[in-house]
Amino acid sequence: MSGTHSILFVPGDGIGPEVMEEVRRVIDWFARKRNLHVEIEDALIGGACYDAHEVAILDETVEKAKRADVVLLGAVGGPKWRDVPFEQRPEAALLKLRKELDLFANLRPAICFAPMADASSLKRELVEGLDILIVRELTGGIYFGTPRGIEDLGNGEKSAVNTQRYDSREIRRIAQVAFLLARTRRSLVTSVEKRNVMETGILWHEEVTRTHEREYSDVQLEHLLADACAMELVRRPKRFDVILADNLFGDMLSDEAAMLTGSLGMLPSASLGEMDKDGRRAAMYEPVHGSAPDIAGESVANPIASVLGFAMALRYSFNRNEDAALLEQAVNDTLEDGVRTADIWQEGCEKVSTSGMGENIVSRLESNAAAS
Ligand code: IPM
Ligand code: MG
Repeated sequence: MSGTHSILFVPGDGIGPEVMEEVRRVIDWFARKRNLHVEIEDALIGGACYDAHEVAILDETVEKAKRADVVLLGAVGGPKWRDVPFEQRPEAALLKLRKELDLFANLRPAICFAPMADASSLKRELVEGLDILIVRELTGGIYFGTPRGIEDLGNGEKSAVNTQRYDSREIRRIAQVAFLLARTRRSLVTSVEKRNVMETGILWHEEVTRTHEREYSDVQLEHLLADACAMELVRRPKRFDVILADNLFGDMLSDEAAMLTGSLGMLPSASLGEMDKDGRRAAMYEPVHGSAPDIAGESVANPIASVLGFAMALRYSFNRNEDAALLEQAVNDTLEDGVRTADIWQEGCEKVSTSGMGENIVSRLESNAAAS
């Protein structure tokens, strides 16, 4: 429990800075009441960085991120930067951090808090008690494969290419993460690909099967085509435990899974690197939602995804499971109290602003701590 944790704070664009302010409030509480020692440094990323420096991220920020124990990111992007050079678009900064820190394992839990079951677009009985973990490969596949580009064919026509490439090692290491996490849950991994169409799907299927046979045969493994998985997610979502997917399928399936829980505004994610011999791994935590430029600056955004991202940091980077559980409980109780931001507001609930939600979560932390 001792030692100082270094945090690089990169709020980014749109609602990023607003929701991250509430994370700061929560961190302050843990510093004051739970003896958490942190050192926070701030940096610009995305459009905010482009406006100041004409690049989406500075090299020195990438270096700081490598040195920090954790990176806490808000969101990047927005229409304001639609016309900046493609390599300097806000999203490029995020992809660069993922790649440079080798954050290959992206954990996206989709949990339906009981008080939220009616906010889902699916019927209550389908989503109540939902607890899925999407394990998405984050540094390979079509996001980074080469060749890529747009070629001018010279006759007024163009041709564009992207490449989906995976090697055995990349598939094995993400499969291992999924199996290990499944062991701490309901012990079922559903691996998805499109082996009926893509060679990368054939290799994916092969390597996941082999990894399973070699080291994780105590865990149940099933294979599902990615399109069938998308369908099953809205038909019978509770049948899933851990879903293992490549970068692109994982991106799409996680947005779909997020919506099952009531709002994209609720879901955090952890991006982790490989564990070194001292048990240290690079880590970045961020909400699954984007920068939501349409509501930026209005103090209506839901900070819960970012706050729960910090709970993941407590669990996966700071080894403070008890504190992570405290925070998750406080979020649950705040929702139970009927406190809602606009995105999850229902008749009979109290509508609060972004900071109102943060204040309520901290009061809940406070009263739960006093009661225990
Ligand atoms: C996500 C986002 C990113 C992605 C974008 C912003 C580049 O959609 O984290 O899911 O596609 O990975
Ligand atoms: Mg996405």
